[in-house]
Amino acid sequence: MKALVPLALLAAACARETPPPVVPGAHADPSALVASADGRFVYVACPAQQAVAIVDVRRGELRALRGIGARPGGLALAPERGEIAVSLPDEDGVRVLDAGTLEPLRTLAAGFEPAGLAFSGDGRRLFVANARGGDVSVLDAATGTELRRVPAGREPYAVAVSKDGATVAVVSRMADVGAACDEPRSELTLLDAATGEVRRRVALASCHLAESLAFTPDDARVLVPVVRVRNRLPVVQVDRGWVMSTVLASVDPATGSVAYLPLGETDEGFPDPTGIAITADGTRTFVAARGTDRVAELRIADALALESAAGSADLERLSSSARFVAARFEVGSNPAALAMAGTTLAVAERLGDSVALFGEDGALAARVRLVPPAPEDAVRRGDRVFHDARYAFQRSFSCSSCHPGGHTDGLTYDFEIDGIGRNVVLNRSLRGVKGTAPFKWNGRNASLAEQCGPRFAKVLTRADVFPPQDLEDVVAYIESLPAPRPDPRAGRVDGRETGASARGRAIFERTRRRDGSEIAAADRCATCHPPPHYSNLRREGVGTQSGADDTGTFDVPHLTAIGSKAPYLHDGRALSLEEIWTAPDVGDLHGAVTDLTKTDLNDLVEFLKGL
Ligand code: HEC
Ligand code: HEC
Repeated sequence: MKALVPLALLAAACARETPPPVVPGAHADPSALVASADGRFVYVACPAQQAVAIVDVRRGELRALRGIGARPGGLALAPERGEIAVSLPDEDGVRVLDAGTLEPLRTLAAGFEPAGLAFSGDGRRLFVANARGGDVSVLDAATGTELRRVPAGREPYAVAVSKDGATVAVVSRMADVGAACDEPRSELTLLDAATGEVRRRVALASCHLAESLAFTPDDARVLVPVVRVRNRLPVVQVDRGWVMSTVLASVDPATGSVAYLPLGETDEGFPDPTGIAITADGTRTFVAARGTDRVAELRIADALALESAAGSADLERLSSSARFVAARFEVGSNPAALAMAGTTLAVAERLGDSVALFGEDGALAARVRLVPPAPEDAVRRGDRVFHDARYAFQRSFSCSSCHPGGHTDGLTYDFEIDGIGRNVVLNRSLRGVKGTAPFKWNGRNASLAEQCGPRFAKVLTRADVFPPQDLEDVVAYIESLPAPRPDPRAGRVDGRETGASARGRAIFERTRRRDGSEIAAADRCATCHPPPHYSNLRREGVGTQSGADDTGTFDVPHLTAIGSKAPYLHDGRALSLEEIWTAPDVGDLHGAVTDLTKTDLNDLVEFLKGL
């Protein structure tokens, strides 16, 4: 390809010893990969090092590890430009680096918490998935000017460009917020690569947690490894592999039609799909399952033949995967991303701090360590437990299958231990949960150890309970998870401060109604939701008991990062923050609100979004 200049530079820059870690003693946590066009190098995002690494594929060694001053998210390469773009989730921006030297060239502004990104075929535009923003920024790659901002489902996460350069596909990780009984849907958004206009929005039915996608070399399909979740059924089918399973959504970009090809087996799941990579000739496709440290090699031609020949019932059958899965093989701990570097498959082994390189013959050619081995503390061990599906029956899911990134999947579940259709509960985020005991919506679990302990195995995993050490470790891991960042857009319009959040805070803290009469202490927001967690850590009743609930008293939820946790209330009945108070019959049962104007409520919501 044309990338000769930067690669020559690269060779010069890298003719030295293995580079020292940027943050000594820290892990690397490799989590995203992109290969150079000629397949000689693989670039690796190492968030725990706040660095990007370059792996020399032929030599099987680490050539460079360079700090970029912030945690990297996704990576994209523009061979024509000799540039690599790195999303910065904590800074709402993109750092563009010289692909040869990893020297920073410029920083571009993006939306809220960018994740995946890709250059258009000609390298002139950069498409950035703003995960928490729920949109895609179409940037001029040279100037950073935002040409367009397009909504793209809930938590748009991965971006891919068609081989002909005409189409950009973006997939969302979380399902759109719907009522508890609605089918969850992720969105695949297809954009015109030249203009950034939306060509098509494809709903992936009953799907969520897509973290990767790829066009087939002939651009006839977009392939998205995704979790098919059956949260609308009571969780009685763990032992039938029916709580969730992994499929490959095969989308025809021309028509928007979707077929779902099962990737699991009848007696073993393929949990937490993380990456997809296809050889240039299209003969071999690889998909990773983070929860079981495995990669499956697929024959896509056979899969597509099955797709066109089979009825949908055939495709639902777990045994169908045998017809197009050529091989399944073990990789290192917690594969987080895949990339094809020529005919070599590169696997980011997140909890191994390594990148594995598999040759065309399928054999491991090299395992490249990104940092020297660092000691494993309880948090690190708990990270392994949390992401490992071995604790669930038939390895069908891990904790992260419902708590992606330690957060919530935003879905409601009916754990049937207390009767089918009874006490249907919304999932809860684990980020920032430390110090917010009691746990569970009904507040009946006094500690995290109790929450994740023996009862949990009975309710959910249908397997042995965690050994005590693993339980201790997973609790340490959960307690280490920081709360999500407050929404920088709260109280602002087009970046301008409107004063809404300050007015909303005054409403939250108020002691008198608009007419001057006093609000009883028990009816004030701040009584039940005091800082720092915005919870009094007690159980209270606010009139939300439904006929399906055994109780009307609930854990007063902490409100940190509440804007990221939709839907709301214990059964997810409120699709937005507003709906908590605008639903019929709420009255003044949940705080004194009936005297508020619509504008007051808007202000209150802006304040909440900024927590
Ligand atoms: C099938 C989806 C699912 C899986 C898998 C899952 N959880 Fe949960 N988790 C939930 C739901 C739903 C709730 C809310 C339950 C309730 O309040 O009654 C929850 C609540 C929690 C809470 C309480 C949070 C709070 O603030 O009250 C913790 C802690 C937790 N889960 C940890 C874990 C751990 C650890 C694992 C893995 C061993 C795990 N979860 C696996 C769905 C899941
Ligand atoms: C008497 C105590 C009490 C008062 C007063 C109160 N809340 Fe709550 N709040 C709760 C409880 C309990 C819940 C959970 C109810 C449920 O899930 O059904 C809750 C839920 C919420 C939620 C949804 C949290 C989530 O994760 O879904 C928000 C937001 C909230 N309250 C904000 C407020 C605001 C703003 C006010 C003042 C207008 C207020 N609350 C007044 C106890 C209270």
